[in-house]
Amino acid sequence: MFDTYAVIGSGSIGNAWAIVFARAGKQVRLFDIAKERLELARTDILSRLELLKRHGLLAEEISAVVDRIDYFDTLEGAVLGADYVQECAPEKLELKCEIFQNLDALTETHVVLASSSSAITTSQFATNTKNNMRCLIVHPGNPPYLLPVAEVVPAPFTDPQIVDTVMENLRNVGMSPVLVKSETEGFVFNRLQGAILREAYCLVRDGVVSASDIDRIVTQGLARRWTVIGPFATSALNVQGGIKAHVSRMGAAYASMGALRGQNDPWTAELVEKVSDDIDQLFRVDEWHENVLKRDEALLELTKLIENNSAFDMGY
Ligand SMILES: NC(=O)c1ccc[n+]([C@@H]2O[C@H](COP(=O)([O-])OP(=O)(O)OC[C@H]3O[C@@H](n4cnc5c(N)ncnc54)[C@H](O)[C@@H]3O)[C@@H](O)[C@H]2O)c1
Repeated sequence: MFDTYAVIGSGSIGNAWAIVFARAGKQVRLFDIAKERLELARTDILSRLELLKRHGLLAEEISAVVDRIDYFDTLEGAVLGADYVQECAPEKLELKCEIFQNLDALTETHVVLASSSSAITTSQFATNTKNNMRCLIVHPGNPPYLLPVAEVVPAPFTDPQIVDTVMENLRNVGMSPVLVKSETEGFVFNRLQGAILREAYCLVRDGVVSASDIDRIVTQGLARRWTVIGPFATSALNVQGGIKAHVSRMGAAYASMGALRGQNDPWTAELVEKVSDDIDQLFRVDEWHENVLKRDEALLELTKLIENNSAFDMGY
């Protein structure tokens, strides 16, 4: 397992990764090119840790976690002795190319070089990096100490062994890694987010609904349910009979909505079979009633929590 993690860039994501690694008992070496950002990082990390402690999400004293984070004003200093580097600089191609060239020159070839990039692929920034078999994307949700999922996106040149090691180490620090099998633009997290946002903008543009009402439909409907089951499982439980029954009832309507936006990606029988093979294993058709009850129970628990704790007063 990796013991020492270098984090490059102490903005929102860099500081959050530092918390993930330090909270898991790892040594963290944090670097930012801007001295004032590095100074700010100390107070930012402290206030985030205080929040975690207040909510019972830190198993030890805050000071123990803080003590595992060291701050460096040079890249060389930060990567010294690191097993793994998490780059968190701004989303600019030339910058990531330059940082990866420097990281490659400054580290031994067994050190993993990961980027938090949201959309730029490893092939774009590391094709010309000499030892690029150890380069890949590890893209978190924001903030990763509260959203455990992380997308692991290798380039065709990334060593599969390195991918396995990274997945294992992410689990070891409490993350839930998902392997994204190709370097599709925006990976998966942002493609899904983008699909909703594109439709939301169209609906506001067409005067169908206001922006804040869209947010209400999501927070009080779709997203609340997606907290306990994903969109495929939602389909399987919305219609008795699982995925195939849902497609035969709703497929034509969704196809027509897609066509309205110029999208033509039919849910072929083969594709539906593939989804059903996966989802109906987890949400078996013969256990449909029990699973609906479990969903409702989880939603009930969640609703109680949200109603007692919501940090935002959105007026609804
Ligand atoms: N903010 C999000 O919601 C989010 C979510 C997932 C992934 N990401 C990705 O994470 C990366 C960082 O995003 P962010 O939101 O934390 O950005 P940010 O602007 O908050 O922080 C970037 C930090 O990098 C520093 N920096 C700039 N050049 C540097 C260099 N050469 N070496 C070291 N540090 C340098 C900056 O001073 C700044 O402190 C981006 O690739 C972004 O797409 C962001």
